[in-house]
Amino acid sequence: MNYRNSIAREEIAILPSLLAADFGCLGSEAKRAEAAGADALHIDIMDGHFVPNLSMGPDVVAMARRHVRIPLSVHLMLSQPGTYLEKFIRAGADILLIHVEAEGDLGAMLREIRRLGARPGLTLNPGTAADLLWPYLEDIDEVLCMTVNPGYGGQQFMTSVVPKIQAIRDHFRAHGMEKDISVDGGIDARTVKAAAGAGCNVLIAGTSLYGADNMPDAISRMRTVAQEAFRQSRK
Ligand code: DX5
Ligand code: ZN
Repeated sequence: MNYRNSIAREEIAILPSLLAADFGCLGSEAKRAEAAGADALHIDIMDGHFVPNLSMGPDVVAMARRHVRIPLSVHLMLSQPGTYLEKFIRAGADILLIHVEAEGDLGAMLREIRRLGARPGLTLNPGTAADLLWPYLEDIDEVLCMTVNPGYGGQQFMTSVVPKIQAIRDHFRAHGMEKDISVDGGIDARTVKAAAGAGCNVLIAGTSLYGADNMPDAISRMRTVAQEAFRQSRK
């Protein structure tokens, strides 16, 4: 799968977020992203408690698994993700992202995700400090930095998160760690520059990709801008 280890190859991964798709035809919307050149598909799971909104469940992940071959990145915006890990991995999640603000034993959950065969990641809300990650670095392959308060698509990118992305990438480099840093919320061909310039290599975008007149063009434009900014950041 082309998403795995993209950081080791210094490549950018672009993930359309299904939350911005037409819910009347999610199967063909998932296929549309794959055909447009997406490296993986991002699926947002909301419980109406951790965030004020409700979205999709494991059945939607299983549906996406039947329709596309690209990896599925499943973002659990759940207060108690622990009880659902196996359900989502069985449904076809390749990457499972839980929040550092969630309840439960995070280390145990991350190790369970790996044991069940998926790639574990930790997500930070915009106001959450990077320090909360450090105890879990051995148990994760990816850090997702939210650049909006989670719960809804179509919000504005928060530039205040950029220094945190930079601090996490600096920490990884200082410790010789090649881990993916992803960003989610308000990402488009303009805002992607700041995120990738700070060291982010996985870009999740809903509105700007599913809402584009031409998704293949929007993905390729985003990739070009991000790749250039990311390369500069490695110098
Ligand atoms: C927000 C979700 C995002 C959302 C991004 O809670 O986690 O994945 O789909 O949507 P845009 O790109 O529209 O901000
Ligand atoms: Zn998300």
